[in-house]
Amino acid sequence: MRVLIFWDIYGRLWRKAFIKEYQDLKEKHQADLCVVNIENITSGRGPATVHAQMIDNLWVDLMTWWDHIFDNMPDIATYFWKENCKLIRPANFIVSDKFPLPWDWYRIITSPSWKRLLVIQILWEVFMNHKVENPFHKITEILDSISQSEYDSCIVEFHRETTAELYGMANYLDGRVWLVYGTHTHIQTNDAHVLAWWTGIITDIWMNGPFESVIWATFESVEKRFLSWISKWKIMQQLKGKYIINALLVDMDDTTWKCTNIENISFTWKL
Ligand SMILES: [Fe+2]
Ligand SMILES: [Fe+2]
Repeated sequence: MRVLIFWDIYGRLWRKAFIKEYQDLKEKHQADLCVVNIENITSGRGPATVHAQMIDNLWVDLMTWWDHIFDNMPDIATYFWKENCKLIRPANFIVSDKFPLPWDWYRIITSPSWKRLLVIQILWEVFMNHKVENPFHKITEILDSISQSEYDSCIVEFHRETTAELYGMANYLDGRVWLVYGTHTHIQTNDAHVLAWWTGIITDIWMNGPFESVIWATFESVEKRFLSWISKWKIMQQLKGKYIINALLVDMDDTTWKCTNIENISFTWKL
């Protein structure tokens, strides 16, 4: 089984770029399944229904999002309540009866060859604005609660700022899941490899957005903050120049369920 993962399609122009490139990349790399993150798709914020639907229409298999989950509530709730909604939420958000989060926190998706892939998202709270349940406890609880007869393999998306947590999580799950990949920093790391017990790992996939930017913003707009320490200066989206497409291509042996290959796809293009 081969899975293609796109992280973080960023804002208006980059939606356009992704829509233009997606089918070609999926065909070129002969991916069985495709997972796409859209946490910054609406002007750099969480998705509005219209944008979630736009990516859904491309026949992606699953969409994820993260710390920007509530940016466009209640609008996005329209999409969430749709039958066959393709979005899942972080599994370790704290929920209560007074604040229910009704949508799925994991999903099993099926490839054309009927291989079943369990996808789980976990969030960490260092440098984030959320309090979450301990991700290590939560991932154990989830994996213990789903019978292995229900899926063939599992990937875990770990959204966090620091590198140590990602390596901790990947080694914790080594041999139990097929892939642990990190996201959030908008910078790709050069460490894709396979661990001792055949779990694939990469610390960060990067984003699909403006290449000539400070992780998506114009340098001019963030410069004032760096020079003055005043955080109220408005940060502006970079809307011109090259865009960068980033994805992760991962192969799994269909009989042993081991990760056999993990590689970055990364290229820039002029809009
Ligand atoms: Fe992001
Ligand atoms: Fe994020």
